[in-house]
Amino acid sequence: MGRRSLRNIAAGLDLSSWLLGEDELPEPFTVEALFGRTAPLEIEVGTGKGLFLQHATSQFPDHDFLGVEIAGKYARFAAAKLASQECGNGKIVRGDALRLFHEVLPDQCAMAVHVYFPDPWWKKRHRKRRVMRIGFIQDVQRVLIDGGTLHFWTDVEEYFRATLQLIHKSTALDESVVPEPSSPEHDFDYRTHFERRMRFHNATIYRAQFQKRVAK
Ligand SMILES: C[S@@+](CC[C@H](N)C(=O)[O-])C[C@H]1O[C@@H](n2cnc3c(N)ncnc32)[C@H](O)[C@@H]1O
Repeated sequence: MGRRSLRNIAAGLDLSSWLLGEDELPEPFTVEALFGRTAPLEIEVGTGKGLFLQHATSQFPDHDFLGVEIAGKYARFAAAKLASQECGNGKIVRGDALRLFHEVLPDQCAMAVHVYFPDPWWKKRHRKRRVMRIGFIQDVQRVLIDGGTLHFWTDVEEYFRATLQLIHKSTALDESVVPEPSSPEHDFDYRTHFERRMRFHNATIYRAQFQKRVAK
């Protein structure tokens, strides 16, 4: 993320219903135990400042949203947004999405997984730190329900092409058409903060989505 400092969180804002540590997730994990109801679950990996969750939770009140963010200050910031809108269908877990997907999330628990602008790790020797790697993508496939969707957006063409290749070669996820993004109606009418930043700079954004094949 950019290093610009984050706005202060209102003093006294209680985040306890919105910000969880990895060890505070229900064991075994169920959507019902986490949100107190049975609803389709969507998971965002690398929540950043939380714009996606802020909009998606109010746009789709019948879905539950879990954001996963490894950086404590961003996890708190995004949770504070949910807390101040008294959001009943969104929570943030502060932790490593790779571990969460591999060790905690059960098969077929999510209808969608969203990965927007994951850290590119530009240097060749750092690329092994990327989130979109084979093991993670296979975990995403396992965690998605049949027909569930993986959304992946990035501004890094090489990362995009490499990820598409991995997905085509080693999963049963089928690429589907991404709807054309609409023109923003207000200053924060973007999927995420990074999308907003990239569009302000007229950068190319590579978007893909995949459906998990329905088992026969
Ligand atoms: C470039 S930012 C994009 C944030 C947001 N998705 C957006 O589009 O505005 C990537 C985010 O992913 C988080 N992140 C990186 N690796 C992660 C991991 N293994 N698990 C969870 N979050 C991670 C970073 O801390 C950072 O907030």
